[in-house]
Amino acid sequence: MITQKNVTEILEAAKIEDIVEDFVNLKRRGVNYIGLCPFHNEKTPSFTVSPGKNICKCFGCGKGGDPVQFLRELENFTFVEALKYIANKYGIKVEEKELSAEAIAEKQLYDSLYLVNGYAKEFYHEQLMETDKGKSVGLSYFKQRGFREGTIEKFELGYAPASKAAFTNSAIAKGYNKTLLKRLKLTNQYDGDFFRDRVMFTIHNVSGKVIAFAGRTLSTDKKTAKYINSPETEIYVKNKVLYGAHLAKKAIRQEDECILVEGYTDVISLHQSGIENVVASSGTSLTEGQINLIKRFTPNIKILYDGDAAGIKAALRGLDLVLEQDMNVKVVLLPDGEDPDSYMQKVGVTAFKEFIAEQAEDFILFKTNLLLAETVGDPVKRAEIIKDIVSSIARIPDPIKRSLYVKQCAQLVDIEEQTLINEANKLITQNIAKGRKKRQIRRDRSPVGKPAPSGDPSFPSAPPPMVEGEEQLPPELADRIRPVDELNQVVGAAYQEKDIVRILISGGNQIFDTEENITVAEYILSNIEDVLDDFDNAGYGLIVNEYHQRLLKKKATDHSYFLNHSDEKIREITTGLLSSPYEYSPNWEEKFEQPLRTQKNPEENFTKDSIYSLRTFKQKKIHQMRLDISDKVKAASDKGDFDEMIKFMKVKKKLDEVYNELALQTNTVVIK
Ligand code: CTP
Ligand code: MN
Repeated sequence: MITQKNVTEILEAAKIEDIVEDFVNLKRRGVNYIGLCPFHNEKTPSFTVSPGKNICKCFGCGKGGDPVQFLRELENFTFVEALKYIANKYGIKVEEKELSAEAIAEKQLYDSLYLVNGYAKEFYHEQLMETDKGKSVGLSYFKQRGFREGTIEKFELGYAPASKAAFTNSAIAKGYNKTLLKRLKLTNQYDGDFFRDRVMFTIHNVSGKVIAFAGRTLSTDKKTAKYINSPETEIYVKNKVLYGAHLAKKAIRQEDECILVEGYTDVISLHQSGIENVVASSGTSLTEGQINLIKRFTPNIKILYDGDAAGIKAALRGLDLVLEQDMNVKVVLLPDGEDPDSYMQKVGVTAFKEFIAEQAEDFILFKTNLLLAETVGDPVKRAEIIKDIVSSIARIPDPIKRSLYVKQCAQLVDIEEQTLINEANKLITQNIAKGRKKRQIRRDRSPVGKPAPSGDPSFPSAPPPMVEGEEQLPPELADRIRPVDELNQVVGAAYQEKDIVRILISGGNQIFDTEENITVAEYILSNIEDVLDDFDNAGYGLIVNEYHQRLLKKKATDHSYFLNHSDEKIREITTGLLSSPYEYSPNWEEKFEQPLRTQKNPEENFTKDSIYSLRTFKQKKIHQMRLDISDKVKAASDKGDFDEMIKFMKVKKKLDEVYNELALQTNTVVIK
C-alpha cells in the first residue's frame, strides 16, 4: 500500500506530455502536442496531448485520459503499477505502508509460485534445446510441425524428459521447496515428475509471468491423454486465462480485434505467420473471465471454429454472454477437417487471411443460418429456433444494433419484422423489470439528498399518472427496439444530459450555495433524483447514477475517479467531456429562441450554469412528456373514449403549467 500523501505527490508530479513522450513521438501543435496514436494503427497523427489539462486523447479511436489512465490502458498497469512507473520516472521515493502479516504471506506465496514455475520453464526449455533426447524427440517434433526456432523461443516451448524424477531432483538440488513443487503439481505425490516424455507449452498470464504448463504426448496411443495440464492454483485460474494473451495484447489493440482459436498450436502457428492478435481458450468454451480479459483490449472478437467441430452448437450458446457485454462477435467456420494450424500450414498466410476475411460472418446471422438448416419442413422446431435467436438479440445492449439484427433475421427466417420486434421487446421489458427491481431496492435504502434551494418550480415527482387499465410502459421505453431510421438521430434530451454530466464531473464538488453550504452536485442531483433512471443516453445515465450513489456514500466523485473508471465507456465519455470545447446544443437557439448565455466556459461559472443547465434539462424532459401525452390524447379521441381523453388532457395542462414556469425563468417561449 502506498500512502495517500505519497500518491498525491506522485500524481502531482506526473506531466502528461512527459509520460506520453515515453511511448509516442510528439510534435508541438499550438498549445498542444500531437503524435501517432499508440492504441490503434494510423498514418496521420490524431493523438493529442494537452499539457494545460494534463490529459491526452485520440480523436481517431477515442482512447486517452490522464497520465495514470494512459499508462493503465497502454501498459495494462494496475493503478499502483502506474504510480510506481511515474514515481520511478520522476525519482520520487515510493513509501509503502507496512503490509499485514497475512498480506505479506500471500504475496510471498505468489512470488514463490512464479519463481518455481519460472525455473520449470527454463528446465523444460533447456531440455528441448540442449539435450540429445530433447533435440531428437521434442525439437524435431516442433520443427516437423513447422515451428521455427525463433517461435519456439518466443513461446518458451520445452520438453519434459521421460525419466522418473529428472525435473524434481534438479529443482530440489537447486533449493526449490518441495511443497511448492507439489502445490503446482510439477511434482506428483510420489515425489516423481508430473510431466514426463511430453512436449511442453508454457502458459503465461497477461503480464507474461509463468502460471502453468500443458504437456502434449508424442505417443499415438489412444489411451494416453493428448494433453495434461497444471491444476488450478492461486496463480492459475483457468477461466480467466487465454493462451498467448501476453504476446497478443499489443496486436489486438492495434488491429482492434481479437482472434480466438481453440488450441495452443493454433495460436503459435498463426502468430508465426504474422497474425499476432490471436489467443486460445484452450479447448473450453469462452468464459466470462476470458471475455473480460479480451474486453480490456477490444470489443471485437472473431472466433475460428474447426471444420469438424461437433460442439459448435453448444459453443454458440456460450456466446450470448459475449453479446451481453456489448462485444461484436464474428465467426469463421474452417473447411472440413481443418483447424487453424493445419489450414495455415496447408494454404499459406495470404490465402488464410483471405479466407477468414471472406468467411467471417456475424454471430447472430451465423447462428440463424445454422439452426435454420435443421428446421426444414418442421414448423414446431422453426418456432423454437426463432425464440432462441430473439433471446440472443434481446441481450444486445445497443438498441441500434438490435434493430439491425432484427431486420436481417426477419429476412432470413422469412417472418414479419414487427413480429420479431414484439417478441424481442417482451424479453427486453422483462430484463428491464428485473434490473429495475434491483435499482429500486438500492434507492429505497439511500436517504434523499439535501433539498433544493427555493426558487425552482417543482419537478413532477413521477411520470404523469396513467389511466387504469392502460398498460404501464416502463420509463426505459427509449431503450426498446424502434425502427432503424428513428434511432439514427440523437434521441431525446441527450444534449441537455451531457450538460448536466459535464458540470457534475468538472465542477460537482464546487460550492453551489455558501449559505446552505451545498455543492453543485448536491444541488443538481437532489433536483433530478426522480429522473435518474430516465436518461435517454445510457452512458450519461450510468455516470449520473454512479455519481449519485457515490455522493450518498460520501465517496470521491472528482473527475479523476471517472477518468480511471473500470468501465471503458465511462472513461471515454469523461475524457471526451473534459477535452471537448464547450458546445451548445445544435438548433437550441432556434428551437427554444434561447438567448445564448455568457460565452464563458461552464467551469468558470458553476453556480449560474448549474441552475441554467438544470432548468433546460427539465424543460426538455417536460417537453418530451408533453409530446407523449399529446399522442395519448389523440389516441383516446380516435377511440372515442372521452373519459380517458379528459384525464390525459388534465395531465397535459399540468405539464404545460410547469413548462411555462420554467420558460419564464430561462427566458424562452411560453406555450399559450
Ligand atoms: N485440450 C486439452 N486436453 C485434451 C485435448 C485438448 O486440454 N486432452 C485442449 C488444449 O488446449 C488444446 C485444445 O484443447 O490445445 C484443442 O485441442 P486439439 O485441437 O485436440 O489440440 P491441438 O492444440 O490442435 O493440438 P494438435 O494440433 O497437436 O492436434
Ligand atoms: Mn491442431
